[in-house]
Amino acid sequence: MEKFIEGLPKAELHLHIEGSLEPELLFAIAQRNNIELKYDSVEDLRKAYNFDCLQDFLDIYYQGAGVLLKEQDFYDLTWAYLEKCSAQNVRHTEIMFDPQTHTERGVSFDTVINGIYKATQDAYKEWGITSFLIMSYLRHLSEEEAFKTLEQSLPHKDKIKAVGLDSSEKGNPPSKFKKVFEASSKEGYIPVAHAGEEGDADYIWEAIELLGIKRIDHGNNALQDKKLIEEIKSRDLALTVCPLSNLALKVVSDLKQHPLKKMLDLGLKATVNSDDPAYFGGQVNKNFIEIQEALGLTKEDLFELAKNSFSYSLLDDETKKKYISELEDYFEAKK
Ligand code: ADE
Ligand code: ZN
Repeated sequence: MEKFIEGLPKAELHLHIEGSLEPELLFAIAQRNNIELKYDSVEDLRKAYNFDCLQDFLDIYYQGAGVLLKEQDFYDLTWAYLEKCSAQNVRHTEIMFDPQTHTERGVSFDTVINGIYKATQDAYKEWGITSFLIMSYLRHLSEEEAFKTLEQSLPHKDKIKAVGLDSSEKGNPPSKFKKVFEASSKEGYIPVAHAGEEGDADYIWEAIELLGIKRIDHGNNALQDKKLIEEIKSRDLALTVCPLSNLALKVVSDLKQHPLKKMLDLGLKATVNSDDPAYFGGQVNKNFIEIQEALGLTKEDLFELAKNSFSYSLLDDETKKKYISELEDYFEAKK
C-alpha cells in the first residue's frame, strides 16, 4: 500500500506555505537574517511542537514565520516544499499564503508574492509541477485589514487564483468577511475558506451562503448536520481534509476516529492534504499512508481521493483530464 500511495499521481489542495517551513530551514534563514530565536537547536524547537488546539499551534506558527524577511527567504521556502512534492508524485498544488503575517511585520506584499511565485515558475520548469496561489485572509484580524490586503494584491492579480480564510476559527465567523469576499470575487479571485475545523456546522453554512465558497477547507464538522451534507453535495463542493493536522490539533483524538471514510461513504468529495506539514509530522504521502492504515482504506478509496484532488482543483478542464488520465493508467497498472 505504501508503494502504491507513493507512486499515485495526486494534487495537494490544502497547504499553507508558512506551515511547510521545516525547523532546519527556519534556523538557517534566522541565522542569515541575524534573528535570534528563543530555541537553542532544531531539536529544541521540534519539542515545542506539541499542541492542544488550533490556537496553540497558530502561536508557534506565526513566530516561526517571523524569520522570513527577504524575497529569497520566500523563494527558498516554496522551493523546498515543491522539491518534496516532486518526490511524492504531486503533480499539482494549490498553495495558501498569509500576506498579513508578513505585512504586519513590515515585509512588503511584493516581497512575499514575488519570492513564492518565482519558485512555482522554476518548479514548473524543473519538474513540470503546476501551482496556483491562494491568498488567505487572517480571520483574527478585521475585515478592514483584509480589504487593505486585497488592495495590495491587485498589481499581482495574474499570480493569484483564489482567496481563502484561515487562522483562529472560533469567534471569527465567515460573516465577518462577507464584504471583502464579495469584492475579492468581483476581482476574479475564486473564494474558498477554512470552515468546520474547530467551528460548528453553522460556520460552514455561512461560508457557503455568505462567502459563496467553491471548496471547503477541512469541513469535518459538516457531519454534525444532515441538511448541510445534502447542501454540500447538491452544490458539488469538495472538502480538503487534513488527517495528521486533525490529529495534531486534537480535532480527532485518534486517526481511527477520523471521519474521512464516513465522508466518502456519504458521497462527499473529500481530498487528502498536509495543511502545515512541518508542524504536523508529515507531508501529503504520510497523510495518505497513516489514514489508509487507520481506516483500512482500499486502493479504490485511494484512487477516488486522488481523483477528487484533480477534479476539484482549480485547474482548467483540459489539464484536469490530462492528470486524471495519468492517474487512471497508474490505477489500471497497479490495482
Ligand atoms: N493557518 C495555518 N494552518 C491553519 C489551520 N489548520 N487552520 C486555520 N488556520 C491555519
Ligand atoms: Zn489549513
